[in-house]
Amino acid sequence: MNADHNAIFSGPVAFLKSAPKLEFLPDAEAPEIAFAGRSNVGKSSLINALLGRKAIARTSVTPGRTQELNFFDVGAPPSFRIVDMPGYGYARAPVKTVLRWRYLINDYLRGRQVLARTFLLIDARRGIGKVDVDMMAMLDGAAVSYRTVLTKTDKVKQTERDKVAAEVEAALRGHPAAFPGLILTSSEKNYGIEELRSAVLGSMRC
Ligand code: GTP
Ligand code: MG
Repeated sequence: MNADHNAIFSGPVAFLKSAPKLEFLPDAEAPEIAFAGRSNVGKSSLINALLGRKAIARTSVTPGRTQELNFFDVGAPPSFRIVDMPGYGYARAPVKTVLRWRYLINDYLRGRQVLARTFLLIDARRGIGKVDVDMMAMLDGAAVSYRTVLTKTDKVKQTERDKVAAEVEAALRGHPAAFPGLILTSSEKNYGIEELRSAVLGSMRC
């Protein structure tokens, strides 16, 4: 992590808007980096840690908190935008809601020209489930390159974490749009945030 990285993330950061439907997307005037993952995996918390703000993205102990695409400007005017996505795989959400989120995510991934990269979050306690494999297939189908991030690593012992990490890395091999390798993080303990920042900035250079 160099001084340039810190300067970008400690500069102006602002919530821009929430888009419950595609017609509410902001103008495509800056590259976008999206954060996807199952409900409660820690997307909004990781965005707060990434942006060095306590509560710019809304978090909740209850799954299903983020229900729209939420856009955050980094820099003013924005050098890029961070997009907090609704979580998938929330068993208790009504079927209609689940379908609405799925279409919103899929249409965004397939149609957004300025989307530079997606970060796919996997809970270190749960590993990859069927809903994550579905999401990976959606990203492959949309030809959106993605990097995988393990969240909540503070919640597991190192042996368990290494086992889950090896399983996730093995699962990534069959997915053409996936970058190999994992970023291990904890928003709670601020682990892996510098590496994540570098990966976010790096995704706009290639
Ligand atoms: P949805 O918006 O519902 O899809 O959830 P989300 O993926 O945005 O998760 P969110 O960031 O709201 O976090 C869900 C819960 O996990 C909250 O209670 C967080 O405090 C907790 N959490 C998130 N990241 C971490 C972490 O790194 N460590 C620990 N211990 N808890 C975490
Ligand atoms: Mg959220």
